[in-house]
Amino acid sequence: MDKLKIGFIGTGKKQKPSSKGFAMAYRHADGYALLDQCEMVTCADIVAENGKAFAESYGIRRTYLDYHEMLEKEDLDMVSICVWPHLHAQMTIDCAEAGVRAIHCEKPMASNWADSKRMAQVCEDRGVQLTFNHQRRFARPFRKAKELLLAGEIGELTRLEGEVGNIYDGGTHFIDMFGFFNFESPGEWVIGQADCRNENRAFGAIVENFGVFYWQYQNGVHALMVSGQGNLGIGAASRLIGTDGIIEVGVRGGAALRIKRPGSWEEIDCEGEGIHGAHFIGRALEDTIEALLAGREPELSARRALNTTEIIFAAYESCRRRIRIDLPLDDVSDNPLESLFNEGAYSAG
Ligand SMILES: NC(=O)c1ccc[n+]([C@@H]2O[C@H](COP(=O)([O-])OP(=O)(O)OC[C@H]3O[C@@H](n4cnc5c(N)ncnc54)[C@H](O)[C@@H]3O)[C@@H](O)[C@H]2O)c1
Repeated sequence: MDKLKIGFIGTGKKQKPSSKGFAMAYRHADGYALLDQCEMVTCADIVAENGKAFAESYGIRRTYLDYHEMLEKEDLDMVSICVWPHLHAQMTIDCAEAGVRAIHCEKPMASNWADSKRMAQVCEDRGVQLTFNHQRRFARPFRKAKELLLAGEIGELTRLEGEVGNIYDGGTHFIDMFGFFNFESPGEWVIGQADCRNENRAFGAIVENFGVFYWQYQNGVHALMVSGQGNLGIGAASRLIGTDGIIEVGVRGGAALRIKRPGSWEEIDCEGEGIHGAHFIGRALEDTIEALLAGREPELSARRALNTTEIIFAAYESCRRRIRIDLPLDDVSDNPLESLFNEGAYSAG
């Protein structure tokens, strides 16, 4: 079999990961490098030195400043999109229209709800596999937690709880993990409130300083997510509450995974693995490529990412309209929190 030809849009600059850039393309490339079926052939970055340094790191011979030119000149099978979220949708659509077979795009899906739906629809219409890098689905503590749930160790799942910095940027990972635990059920309704009085941006997007969000899934399970900095009173990245026990993943200052059955807590061995780690991306890409070749739904499918993204924008819409938002979220196209912020709704705070 010919190797899949992989290209990158946005390479970043290799440096200590910070709010100035994580250079996620390097993480993707480290993952592709482990896969025999893949060959990294090209990259595009508007900053020439970024593209050049990336190309040198991975033995890539051709670099471009303009990704349109890359798509035109290269016969790519798959593209990794590693730029900030406001660029994801158009780049995804351009890749799909250029005829690639698969796109692995960084999270969050896009900067607003209309673009999130649009990029997924264009890929579906064209039969292009679209995945989002919610790589925590491949981290051992989360997978073992799901195994414990499926084994009936806490009875029937009734409720999910968690805490994050904000629900859009970091939160997309953890709401996605709720979907993973909750059998990919779409949301039914969402209610929430966010404090956005100080300008707070993640990869260019406005995010809340503090928020409380509550929702119900179509299968009846409820979820509570609190966002902000400091002690938010939840104490875990994910808490699965069942009829007979509790599982916690990413306990603040504690275990990667623990379970409470009637009685006391038991810590579960995750072979030293925590809830953060670049190597999950290699596993994510392995599944993504396997799914592409087998024609099955990948773990990180756009369908699942849409469930997550709908909850995020519905939560922000609840802040705007001050009511519970019933899903599907049909009458919203923007990012309601960003619109509220730009309209000065928080300036008196
Ligand atoms: N999955 C994760 O755990 C994780 C962690 C951090 C960041 N991210 C996400 O990764 C994405 C990228 O963030 P990053 O920190 O890696 O970015 P970065 O700032 O490190 O790199 C982005 C690169 O894109 C280039 N670029 C900008 N516009 C471009 C264009 N039009 N064409 C080509 N290149 C262009 C920039 O020059 C830069 O080199 C974001 O969506 C972010 O949310 C994901």
